[in-house]
Amino acid sequence: MKIVKMIIVFITALLVFNNSLLASGHGHKKEKKVGILLVAFGSSETSAQISFLNIEKKVKEAFPSMPIRWAYTSHIIRHKLAKQGKILDSPEVAMAKMLDEGFTHVAVQSLHSIGGEEYHNLRRSVGAFKGLRGFKRIMLGYPLMSTQDDMERIVDAIISNIPKQRKKNEAVVLMGHGSHHPSNAFYAALNFQVQLKDPNIFIGTVEGYPELDLIQSLLLKKQIKKAYLMPFMSVAGDHAKNDMAGNEDDSWKSMLTKAGISCVIILKGTAEYDNFVNIWVDHLKKVLAHFN
Ligand code: CO
Repeated sequence: MKIVKMIIVFITALLVFNNSLLASGHGHKKEKKVGILLVAFGSSETSAQISFLNIEKKVKEAFPSMPIRWAYTSHIIRHKLAKQGKILDSPEVAMAKMLDEGFTHVAVQSLHSIGGEEYHNLRRSVGAFKGLRGFKRIMLGYPLMSTQDDMERIVDAIISNIPKQRKKNEAVVLMGHGSHHPSNAFYAALNFQVQLKDPNIFIGTVEGYPELDLIQSLLLKKQIKKAYLMPFMSVAGDHAKNDMAGNEDDSWKSMLTKAGISCVIILKGTAEYDNFVNIWVDHLKKVLAHFN
């Protein structure tokens, strides 16, 4: 009897000792803690919050118990928001905080539309954190337009999000952001692919190619009299409200109206539609699958 008791005490002591080793952090086994970091360009417009809330809602639906953090890649936006007392982290600060909070596995999800400058800078930062001691795994998910499968889903999403009253002989002109980055080519690629299904849908950009001039000339050539203008950006923010739908002479609405094409404005960012958000969420799912 005595020997049995002694053995029980011995085993209990061993277990306690072992557990305290784990808890103290001197043991090599750190408890697995998985988190999500959502990274957007950011927006200072309150209208943009609908998009971010919708993304968060869909991510929570897919991963109900997983902690979610946010970061914005744009300094300008972060500084503008900070002046209003809204503090948003850069991806680097957000990753450092997650490291400090004891996360072992982090899925960083880009909420950008193309793999452009913002995305590639983010890749470099994620890469730097890979090299640091701390995270077991940290991986970055693709932006919206990445694989051919994405492109096909985007074409279908665009078509199904067009208001039902639009007639086939009326145009739909989407405003993408555009970039000097080589990935700008995705916009023209999308324009090509969407037109295989509906030749009166056009993808243009504010700061890249295709420009409005080109699209306008194509609309006139086709003798189109009416166009639906929709943002092809995650949020209906500053560009959508001003460059697309504003009353200034150089907005898309003003330019097209002046050319004799009447405009119908749709102010809804891509991230307000679940069919677009699902593409980002599926990229995130792929990253998280690597952690199992
Ligand atoms: Co811009």
